[in-house]
Amino acid sequence: MPDRYAVIGNPVAHSKSPWIHAQFARATGENLEYGSIEAPADGFVRAVEAFRAQGGKGLNVTLPFKAEAFRLCAGTSARAAAAQAVNTLVLDRGKPWGDNTDGVGLVRDLGTNLGRRLAGARVLLMGAGGAAQGVLAPLAEAGVEQIVVANRTLPRAQALAARVRGASACSYEALAGQSFDLVVNATSAGLSGDLPPLPKGLFRPGAFAYEMVYGRDTAFLAMARAAGAGTSDGLGMLVEQAAESFQIWRGIRPETGAVLAALRAQ
Ligand code: ATR
Repeated sequence: MPDRYAVIGNPVAHSKSPWIHAQFARATGENLEYGSIEAPADGFVRAVEAFRAQGGKGLNVTLPFKAEAFRLCAGTSARAAAAQAVNTLVLDRGKPWGDNTDGVGLVRDLGTNLGRRLAGARVLLMGAGGAAQGVLAPLAEAGVEQIVVANRTLPRAQALAARVRGASACSYEALAGQSFDLVVNATSAGLSGDLPPLPKGLFRPGAFAYEMVYGRDTAFLAMARAAGAGTSDGLGMLVEQAAESFQIWRGIRPETGAVLAALRAQ
């Protein structure tokens, strides 16, 4: 019998995680199956318990349940505690334990797949919701010179930045006159075709724009290209966070390059 894992979210039908983990399992020879569970908005904990009762060993958690997953855990990693969000549940080692692999996934994609130097960079993180929470501390700890969190609702940015050493917060208007080496869009604006109100001149020469929404050419990516910046969507982060989850569950780190290339070609 293969060991059972799944991604849980709502919606979850279009998740690429089952496909990614199937590739990892094949490449590493691990005997596991990985499905998907769409939990009702008010039924996350019940769905996790049911999966666990059936012998499920681990879950990836996606929108909108990452904060609820954090609260459900009896213990978490330090990085999940910093994010107050869990995207990886371990269910087969006693009480539920949680980790958050989103931030390390982003940092690995930037550093390893995209060859971007984070050391010494001035970084702008847009957004202060769950997506931004997951990546702020890992970005800040990657040796950046400065990291600024900008958000439409300024108090949310201030609350988030206050939790991470070296981070500061500001409004979009207050970005006027500032420039950055890396701009990460962790807002959900791209999902509705919107763009946060960014001032001109944001991108330094050689700057890079990273869109955490994957699979679409958002207004942010178009704007960054027009400004001469390099760009990437969040597909590499998706594969890297999955590899980190796989390692937590199975103790083996799968190769990501071929899986990412195949996803891109799809
Ligand atoms: P998630 O967990 O995906 O981050 P969220 O907690 O709802 O979702 O946060 C969404 C983020 O996108 C927030 O930072 C939000 O800004 P506010 O905190 O001001 O609401 C940001 N966002 C969404 N739509 C936006 C838009 N059109 N322009 C600017 N920011 C937007």
